[in-house]
Amino acid sequence: MAFRKILVGYDGSEASKKALYKAIGLAKIIGGELHIVGVVRPFEFATVDFILPEEIEEYEREEVSKEEKYLREALDIVKGEGLNAYTKVLEGEPSEELMDYADKNGCDLIVVGHRGVGGFKRMILGSTASNLVKYANQSVLVVK
Ligand SMILES: Nc1ncnc2c1ncn2[C@@H]1O[C@H](COP(=O)(O)OP(=O)(O)O)[C@@H](O)[C@H]1O
Ligand SMILES: [Mg+2]
Repeated sequence: MAFRKILVGYDGSEASKKALYKAIGLAKIIGGELHIVGVVRPFEFATVDFILPEEIEEYEREEVSKEEKYLREALDIVKGEGLNAYTKVLEGEPSEELMDYADKNGCDLIVVGHRGVGGFKRMILGSTASNLVKYANQSVLVVK
């Protein structure tokens, strides 16, 4: 068994942090390369009646900088464990962007938490995790 490139989906949630630690543990054992990716969803028009284009731009800028901050924190954790990682913020639908990243970068394992931000507490498996398990071309580790 060998995983050479491990992709971690990181949304800043506790569950994704736990997934990151598991990925770090794996990378230490098998020596794999870590890729940490956060995906920002585009503005959801269905949630408002009226919005100005500048407000949408501001919303998206804020979301991107929030995700960049999460990724910096994640990278600090990785470096604190004596490893390094590639980080990237992408925009789009999270599971699709993560799968696309994994395909394009030759990642052979995707590690995510079982839930994230914005999900229901009682939900066992979030939609991003569930889509990855169903549709990704790679092995998926869902950390509980
Ligand atoms: N926007 C995102 N960017 C990167 N990873 C994500 C994103 N959303 C979710 N994930 C990953 O998927 C895991 C499960 O989240 P998700 O399925 O979205 O649950 P929920 O429905 O509770 O938000 C998270 O712990 C994280 O590892
Ligand atoms: Mg989510």
